Amino acid sequence: MENFTFYAPTYFAFGKDTESQAGKLVKRFLGTKVLIHYGGGSVVKSGLLDRVKKSLEQENIPYFELGGVKPNPRSGLVYEGIKLCKKEGIDFVLAVGGGSVIDSSKAIAAGTVYDGDFWDFYMGKPIEKALPVGTILTIAAAGSEGSGDSVITKEEGMFKRGASGEAIRPKFSILNPALTQTLPPYQTAAGITDIMAHLHERYLTNSKDVEVTDRLIEGLLLTMIHEGPRVIADPNNYEARANIMWAGMVAHNNIVGVGRSQDWNSHNIEHELSALYDCAHGAGLAVTMPAVFKYVYKHDVMRFAKLATRVWGIQMDFDNPEATALQGITALENFLKSIGMPIRFNELGAKEEDIPTLVKMLCYGDGRTGSISGFVKLNEEDCTNIYKMML
Ligand code: NZQ
Ligand code: ZN
Repeated sequence: MENFTFYAPTYFAFGKDTESQAGKLVKRFLGTKVLIHYGGGSVVKSGLLDRVKKSLEQENIPYFELGGVKPNPRSGLVYEGIKLCKKEGIDFVLAVGGGSVIDSSKAIAAGTVYDGDFWDFYMGKPIEKALPVGTILTIAAAGSEGSGDSVITKEEGMFKRGASGEAIRPKFSILNPALTQTLPPYQTAAGITDIMAHLHERYLTNSKDVEVTDRLIEGLLLTMIHEGPRVIADPNNYEARANIMWAGMVAHNNIVGVGRSQDWNSHNIEHELSALYDCAHGAGLAVTMPAVFKYVYKHDVMRFAKLATRVWGIQMDFDNPEATALQGITALENFLKSIGMPIRFNELGAKEEDIPTLVKMLCYGDGRTGSISGFVKLNEEDCTNIYKMML
């Protein structure tokens, strides 16, 4: 196990009706004037936004509202939010929605206390200062409710990039699984896929002797394999939603990623797909992960075979561990298909002729010089081959 530090001080309020604590929690974390940030309308329709406003009013906390965050959130609305926060002297950003709303809120929070262009943070500058952020989560997926990360797409060029910093880790997150019951099945499944991807990105490591995090990841994957189909079959299954929601947080606040190198090649390869085609991030990952894994599994056959046996219950073939590893990848692919996820390129609206553009953005964006690295270092040719495997 490698040396690490771990500090993830988000206060969680989990369970039914917890959104009624919003006002009290904003006060506890010293917010006196709030920006409520939300998406395309699901929280208006469900009545959640009204309940959150009421909770702030009960604590006499003034607020402003800014809705309209799109999935794969854009820089334009972030600039608007920063302007509003500066003009009105807002000192707390409250995200009501999914990963996109939370990420947009984090960008606004960082940009409001920064003199330059907030995009600097998405070009690699660490975020050291930000307004405090609180979240009320409506979809189990991105894990942004517990992470110090934010992903934004810049409209000019449609560059989708991430920024990080302890300052944007939410001060509190309210997780009421019942709020996720209104999700369309496709979004529920995309969320499940993203959570499973966050677990795989950490499982694929070159670090040795990391049994404790291996076992935690395996347990979380087993939970997703058990609860995923239950929630797809019955969207109102509160207990399944609750297990998935907490798994989504644990999968990405990095408690299962400490002390080990991580992969993130699937995420990097996917981000170009959701940037170019505006597909759901989780759906993009369903297509990406099996292709990446089939391309790289020979780098460490036994790691993939371990995943296949411990998580997918496949019998280890000691004479042919490669076959066991491949059976595990096929089991993942079949599982994702069974919950309604796409598994081929064209199902995302992706086109073969765009592959050179995707590869160029992937291998030369973010100051990269022709490759991406993780579990395995992948050059332009490798990335081209992987996108072709998705066809
Ligand atoms: O906009 P509204 O109307 O709210 O609708 C949303 C949106 O259309 C809808 N939705 C959310 N909760 C709902 C609901 N509909 C009905 N009932 C509810 N309870 O679902 C759609 C998707 O929402 P979105 O916030 O985009 O989903 P998700 O949480 O998957 O976030 C995806 C974004 O997070 C980024 C992704 O790249 C993508 O941009 N990620 C952020 C990470 C982070 N900050 O740590 C890590 C992740 O790997 C990921 O990259
Ligand atoms: Zn993700």
